[in-house]
Amino acid sequence: MPIRFDEKEKIFHLDTATSSYVMEIFEQNYLLHLYYGKKIPDHNLKRLKYKGWFASFSPMNRLVEDGGFSPDICMMEYPGQNTGDFRRTAVAVRNADGNNATDFRYASHKIYAGKPALAGLPALYVEDDADATTLEITMRDEVTGMRVVLCYTVFEHLGAMTRSVRICNDSDRPARIESVYSTCVDFPTHDYDLITLYGRWLKERTAERRPIARGRQGVGSLRGSSSHHQNPFAAVVSSGADEDCGEAYGFNLVYSSNFSFDIDSDQNGGMRVLMGINPDGFDWLLAPGEAFQAPETVMVYSDQGIGEMSRIFHRLYRKHLIRGKWRDAKRPLLINNWEATAMDFTGEKLLSFARVAKELGMEMLVMDDGWFGNRFDDHRALGDWHVNEEKLGSTLHEFVEKVNEIGLRFGIWFEPEMISRDSDLYRAHPDWCLHVPGREKSIARYQYVLDYSRQDVRDYIYGLMHHVLSTANVAYLKWDFNRNLTEAGSAALPPERQGEIFHRCVLGTYEIMGRLNRDFPDLLIENCSGGGGRFDPGMLYYSPQIWTSDNTDPIERLTIQFGTSLCYPASTMGAHVSANKRTGYDTKANVALWGSFGYELDPNTFSAEEREIVKAQIAEYHKYYDVIHYGDLYRLIDPAQNAFRAAWMFVSEDKSEALVTSVVMRRPPEYALYLRLKGLDPEKLYREEASGEVYSGASLMYAGLNLFGTDLDDGTSFKLYFKEVK
Ligand code: GLA
Repeated sequence: MPIRFDEKEKIFHLDTATSSYVMEIFEQNYLLHLYYGKKIPDHNLKRLKYKGWFASFSPMNRLVEDGGFSPDICMMEYPGQNTGDFRRTAVAVRNADGNNATDFRYASHKIYAGKPALAGLPALYVEDDADATTLEITMRDEVTGMRVVLCYTVFEHLGAMTRSVRICNDSDRPARIESVYSTCVDFPTHDYDLITLYGRWLKERTAERRPIARGRQGVGSLRGSSSHHQNPFAAVVSSGADEDCGEAYGFNLVYSSNFSFDIDSDQNGGMRVLMGINPDGFDWLLAPGEAFQAPETVMVYSDQGIGEMSRIFHRLYRKHLIRGKWRDAKRPLLINNWEATAMDFTGEKLLSFARVAKELGMEMLVMDDGWFGNRFDDHRALGDWHVNEEKLGSTLHEFVEKVNEIGLRFGIWFEPEMISRDSDLYRAHPDWCLHVPGREKSIARYQYVLDYSRQDVRDYIYGLMHHVLSTANVAYLKWDFNRNLTEAGSAALPPERQGEIFHRCVLGTYEIMGRLNRDFPDLLIENCSGGGGRFDPGMLYYSPQIWTSDNTDPIERLTIQFGTSLCYPASTMGAHVSANKRTGYDTKANVALWGSFGYELDPNTFSAEEREIVKAQIAEYHKYYDVIHYGDLYRLIDPAQNAFRAAWMFVSEDKSEALVTSVVMRRPPEYALYLRLKGLDPEKLYREEASGEVYSGASLMYAGLNLFGTDLDDGTSFKLYFKEVK
């Protein structure tokens, strides 16, 4: 059994194939954390109970007989506030008396096969209950009548687990939740490094590593989205860990709004790791009998380095996060008009794109921003989701028929959470956007954010979207989000609920995306937020791919794609070849092939030679699709660590084929490079397709591939394809 409860010892033991997570019900029903890490057997686990240096400053519970116990120095599983544990609290509730003291103790538990859905929130799922086992522990605070349900699901074979928390108010008076983390893990030491993904618009998810120091540290977002600036992912890794060796704990929050990842290292050298909704500005009124569901954290442990941690995330997300038809179906190779035309297009111009695209082998035309209302620039019309038939030269139905007759499928752009100041919708409903009374609203990209906490607003927008999607044969939708939330107040919520607005808005977004999934099950949704400003597992639950960045320069994309790959699989990353001039088409495609591939340019501008290059790239996209989308990723040379080159490879699950890609960012000082490959079978022989040379897997991995003689000019790149010789 992956989850066991030892009645006699009062110990919970959660196992995956590679990791163990252990808790103990201690005296007075305190729930203590004992261990999270490499798999260990059941024997004598109580000895793991952490007891730091007990001092007279350590608060005690006089009912506990074990004299060494204090909530302040032990590893606590889900600590409350103001009752003896001075570290950052997992949950803070202010009760009707105005105080915030809580102390949750074990009350009951249940263990069952499968995994429950989370009300209103995206979460990992299983189709077969045999794929996961769940433990729910109910904890109570007797004084306030608050109850928390800690939910742990173990994906035994994948080496991963998830955690979430539900708070229920069993009292007869209202209470306010001031903070609720989804995950709290106490470690006995802080001797680790922290890896996070920082960025900005055009430079998302660049990995940064630093030693964990004493005191508080962490990352988060307060933008009403997961953001370009920090991703809701963090890894805690042993100090010497690299791609192949050492321990790595990955944490990823399935949430698309304000998040917080915090570390609080304590007086005894230990540290507490917390992840969940950002407590800053969060304030949720919980009426008697009500429950609040906090989002889910995914936790991955690897003792084979950071690379294996990433591969576990990738396998997990491909099967248990991405849903519906597009989880397994091959994604279409699309051409998007944005970089070529912006909003300056006509229906005829797009049809000219479609004709050439079809000849070259592309599969779908995506009409980006500018097809609705009087949207001829970004100053206006968001919210007026009516097709501009004059611009298109026909109805949408007729236009899509023409695209389909050419032989392409059709996709369309929406930005459903936004409203332009200059729009018919804003003139009719100025109170439908987020605002606070008496205060000027900050404007960004000439637009405001719709109040998605309101059902009437959501229903109205969804009605317009539904109409557009029903009138034509639309196969794909790009869902954009081009600013963050400010003056986040709602005209529809009472004063005591204004602290709920960020969370209510993202719940509203999830509701609309869920309706789209249900009403249009074949529709492929690609998420976007000024590029990759909302690249998180919450969005991936509804849309299997996300536009990785508005930056399509392949050299810039290297650090972005490397960072993104720390937890997100290749199939989730929208990656297009564009017209930018820094490198040739070969390097643009070699980098974009690491993702859901497409083009973002005017295909009418191709020379005869370029057309042949593009045709060959499209053939390669088909040839390498499976190894990239379903294979294992190995990062070989990290562009954030090496000033000159980047290299990575994909290996098929059965290790019978591999695709190696390398890019020269600028001419390296040394010519020699023996590139050590990874993930191959040392016993197998592999033929490199272009040269016909045969190598042993062992030689490729241990001696390396001798790259003497490859082009070293700035921006050049190569791909090498290896196939097993049987
Ligand atoms: C965002 C997206 C772009 C494009 C524009 C349209 O910036 O990232 O790809 O769709 O919006 O306005």
